[in-house]
Amino acid sequence: MTKQLHPVIPYIEGDGIGTEIWRATQKVIDAAVYSAYQTERKITWLEVLAGQKAFDQTGSWLPKETLAALKKYKLAIKGPLTTPIGEGFRSLNVTLRQELDLYACVRPIRYFKGVPSPLKAPGKTDMTIFRENTEDVYAGIEFASESAEAKQLLDFLTKKLAVTTIRFPATSALGIKPISQEGSQRLITAALDYALEHEKKRVTFVHKGNIMKFTEGGFKNWGYELIKENYPQVFTMDRYKKIAAETGIEKADVALKEAKNLGKIIVDDVIADNFLQQILLYPENYQVVATTNLNGDYISDALAAQVGGIGISPGANINYQTGHAIFEATHGTAPDIAGKGWANPCSLLLSAGMMLDHLGWFEASEKITAAIEKALQSKHVTHDFAQALDTNALSTAEFSDYLINALQKAH
Ligand code: NAI
Repeated sequence: MTKQLHPVIPYIEGDGIGTEIWRATQKVIDAAVYSAYQTERKITWLEVLAGQKAFDQTGSWLPKETLAALKKYKLAIKGPLTTPIGEGFRSLNVTLRQELDLYACVRPIRYFKGVPSPLKAPGKTDMTIFRENTEDVYAGIEFASESAEAKQLLDFLTKKLAVTTIRFPATSALGIKPISQEGSQRLITAALDYALEHEKKRVTFVHKGNIMKFTEGGFKNWGYELIKENYPQVFTMDRYKKIAAETGIEKADVALKEAKNLGKIIVDDVIADNFLQQILLYPENYQVVATTNLNGDYISDALAAQVGGIGISPGANINYQTGHAIFEATHGTAPDIAGKGWANPCSLLLSAGMMLDHLGWFEASEKITAAIEKALQSKHVTHDFAQALDTNALSTAEFSDYLINALQKAH
């Protein structure tokens, strides 16, 4: 796939503002690819249906033809999808991730000069989050208060496992949080390999293992075990603590210094609540983060907000083993502004950039990023940023025309 010069790539336009941002994005990608490689490389776009558009046309929110195409062509890109209410889906996004086993949610978070941010020095935030995407409370194993299932489970817990700590058993809803060794280690492998490939010097496991010792604590411990067995080019703070406990802190400091001099990646772990403080106080200390599903959800949005990029941060859901990947806008369908020409296409555009990087088409990806940087710095922005930057807004279509012009000129 990655060697193809004329790949077929399925796209899901998305609901709400999806149509507008997809139209803008497709034009910019094609222009960037042409500008970088002329006719030598070209994407053939294949529309596949999901969400409201699929339901209206086929009666299914996620037609089986769509899943078949995503499986066949491996890479795909999608706009935001409406979450159908009461149709048997928790969320189409979660279903897609589970169907294709897209276990890594990758969210690069960086600051674009010119974007309004609540921080004094937003440029210090530059990290990539690897969020586990298939386990944790997202497995959807949850039973309503007073349901027959909850009563059965409660019975099992109290009678067979001698659980005595459920404070109000009669009305407790119950949920289950599965976290496995395989699930944790494949995600952590992706984060470590990314750090090695991109010459990053620090990887941090974020977990809540102080309270959930076997699930969140397991995630961290399995990560350290994986490194011990497979990553000689990594020095862990777990090892640092062991050296300190066995032979004193001075020896541990020497070992850490030596590892840094050898250019090794340093891996540490931080409890999730502390991490949310650290990213505000010392964001420059973090480069690559590996975390469980729910933590990753909170952290990705908090970090995106920190750089002002909640509407423009990109994301991809990837299975590095099968090669399946969906690149997507990270925001929702924005029904409040749909059809007004106000939507900012940058989240989908930067996700497209990640897709081009994934294909090895770095020159085209770089052209998109550079054009967005130029637009933001020169205050050529959509409605969402215009007021804060005290400038007139461009419509979604005008914004994409500006980008195309900018990337063609940068030839
Ligand atoms: P939302 O992200 O659609 O909107 C939140 C706010 O941000 C709104 O004021 C909206 O106008 C603004 N906004 C979002 N994207 C924007 C953009 N590109 N440009 C300018 N402004 C933008 O979140 P909300 O309202 O909670 O969800 C609406 C629908 O989207 C729901 O059905 C939800 O389930 C779905 N959703 C889908 C996602 C996906 O497909 N990945 C992710 C999040 C929500």
